[in-house]
Amino acid sequence: MTLKYFGHSAFQITTDGGISILIDPFITGNPFAKTKAEELKAEFIIVTHAHGDHLGDAQVIADKNDTTIICVPELAWILQEEGFKTHELQIGGSYSFPFGDVRFVKAEHGSAMPDGRYAGLAAGAIISTGGKTIYHAGDTGLYGDMKLTAELYEIDYALLPIGGNYTMDFKDAALAASWLKAKLAIPMHFNTFPVIEVDPAKFVQAAERHGVQARIMGFEEEITL
Ligand code: NI
Ligand code: MN
Repeated sequence: MTLKYFGHSAFQITTDGGISILIDPFITGNPFAKTKAEELKAEFIIVTHAHGDHLGDAQVIADKNDTTIICVPELAWILQEEGFKTHELQIGGSYSFPFGDVRFVKAEHGSAMPDGRYAGLAAGAIISTGGKTIYHAGDTGLYGDMKLTAELYEIDYALLPIGGNYTMDFKDAALAASWLKAKLAIPMHFNTFPVIEVDPAKFVQAAERHGVQARIMGFEEEITL
């Protein structure tokens, strides 16, 4: 099983069975992504919320593939009207997909389509696949119920926003990583725009001060989970 990072909050999980799951595929306009959206294949796309830097190229990719978009119902209804295949998953709910289980958890954030249409709540996703548990926090501020997530799941990989302004900053994210008891924390949502500029090495150091191992993924780097 592999995890690939495209910069910002865009990741791809490829299972040993060859199922591709994209998360927040913001590729077009993402200065760190070298891949073209049209080249990406996915059986499933998880969209944490409808902001343009997360919904990204979901429709472009889903159009070319037989993709199921996993998102909160209010966003799913909009995508269904556009003709896309969706799976409605609400915060607190989980569902078993062919690749494994996904649970949506809270994210302290907003959500609306790029044109301003209401798109429900913002979410984070806990993905259990291939014997590993991956938490993609979406866009969120720090909140105490991350401790509850750690009670419910053993998090192997926590993908956490560190850029501040719209989300947690690197210090908050390091505390989150410790609350989550993450075996490995990976920073995301930084340096894409001027207001979220931060040296991710500061996150790694802060996480280590909390006793959590962290690792910066390179852009377009793929690691084995
Ligand atoms: Ni957002
Ligand atoms: Mn964002």
